[in-house]
Amino acid sequence: MNNKIFTSALILCAGTLASMASPDALRFNPDKFTRQTLTMPDGQKLSYKAYEGIYYVTIVEDSTYQTLNIYVPDELAEIPRVPILLRTYVGGYAASTAKSPSPSDATGRALKEGYVVCIPGSRGNNSTIDRNGKTIYTGIAPNGLLDLKAAVRYLRYNDDLIPGESELIFTDGTSAGGAMSSLLGATGNSNDYESLLKKMGAADTRDDVYASICYCPITDLNHADMEYEWLYGCTNTGVRDLTEAQIKISDELAAECPAYINSLGLIEKDGTPLNAENYKAYISQFLIESAHRALQEGCEIPDTIGFTFYQDNNGPMGAAPGIRNDMRPLQPRTMGDTRQAPSFGPGNMPRFNKTSDFVTGLDLDKYLNYVAAVTPLKTPPAFDQMGVLIDTPSPENKEFANSEGEAANFTDFSLQHRLHNPSATLDKDMRHRVYIMNPMNYIGTGRSTVASYWYIRHGAKDRDTSFLVPINLATKLQNAGMNVDFFIPWNRPHSGDYNLDDLFSWIKTTLHD
Ligand code: DHB
Repeated sequence: MNNKIFTSALILCAGTLASMASPDALRFNPDKFTRQTLTMPDGQKLSYKAYEGIYYVTIVEDSTYQTLNIYVPDELAEIPRVPILLRTYVGGYAASTAKSPSPSDATGRALKEGYVVCIPGSRGNNSTIDRNGKTIYTGIAPNGLLDLKAAVRYLRYNDDLIPGESELIFTDGTSAGGAMSSLLGATGNSNDYESLLKKMGAADTRDDVYASICYCPITDLNHADMEYEWLYGCTNTGVRDLTEAQIKISDELAAECPAYINSLGLIEKDGTPLNAENYKAYISQFLIESAHRALQEGCEIPDTIGFTFYQDNNGPMGAAPGIRNDMRPLQPRTMGDTRQAPSFGPGNMPRFNKTSDFVTGLDLDKYLNYVAAVTPLKTPPAFDQMGVLIDTPSPENKEFANSEGEAANFTDFSLQHRLHNPSATLDKDMRHRVYIMNPMNYIGTGRSTVASYWYIRHGAKDRDTSFLVPINLATKLQNAGMNVDFFIPWNRPHSGDYNLDDLFSWIKTTLHD
């Protein structure tokens, strides 16, 4: 049990149902803090006030997780409106306790910048309480998201008492946490969550946020399986080495993807409508841009993994298709500096790393085989796997469990295979839960307040979900008029809160817009 709560307002039993008596139980107490310091990697010591273990709902079901911590730096940024970084540490759709800032991620950096930091806990697919001798799963979808929304509401409800601007909340998370961040950004004030939030005793106020930072978001769960197979099908008989049964599932899933891509009605920046025919070229553009930027930053890229390169003076003049002007070489190569195309083998890997080289094209299938060789792919279905070819539930099957913890399918495809019934469909309640856990259902619909600013990253060798997921998210947001900074960082695996200089300079640009 947490003893840092304002105890007068609570009747608590450890880890079980608790309720707050007074209607003002959600008011922040500015006097209840401890002083803490954080030593940054460069030795700098940051001092701040720590407000920890604050319940953000009045009907606390799971006291281990439904709290938040707030950190207010002694040296607040000297800007008219100080942002609040709301960092969730959700991973694997599991429960996450409210944590303290870390010198090595965005929380420490935000404090260094003089920003307020909020780190909420939230229930997840493994959180349980004991109720009358019975184990209750408290964090099944959408409860983790509801907790984070309640945390946002808490900040806004107490805007007059908490330093920082609740109108400038930046949510940040990685992977399943990136998915949560995208949901916070996409579903603000949607009526779909209203009665559930009310039932929890969340503050009666808005829950939209200003900006969302999403590292490798594992989202669009009910389409992620078909997208994965459509993209990575080219590896099935090679590096992925699937069985016949797995190939059959992969092919069936992949066959469903073109209709989904076409249904999205997405449009490229230049106005070209996207469809299943031109979508792979669209993906390639992002990867080419990633490789190109990596070259300019001095990285080495082997020419065995699908990219082709242009060298000034020896290759065709002018940018190749898909190469923007700002991706042209910074310094032209000198005349006569030709590069041969020798045979490759271990220890004989010509690499391109001159700022004057740039990438002209990509054999996407070759690159995808490289990604699959670096990190073994998930087997099909990648997400809704339970009962299709294996019985083991995935984190997502557990996320959509019932309150007794029985994992569940969340796509018709997998349900039908598990039940051996081609006409089985998810029941209405499950369809609704899946719907409200997918940010794609809200962007551009007018049924929610969507964050104005988005920072989305997915590593170039991250295979936890397919490239389609972050690309669709970013493109749909762009098409809806949001300000989106999307990039696929070169050579990045599944990870988050990297390149903090880039992230925080982006944050600053959003504050000056
Ligand atoms: C996470 C990673 C996954 O591959 C996945 O399916 C769900 C969650 C994660 O790291 O949070």
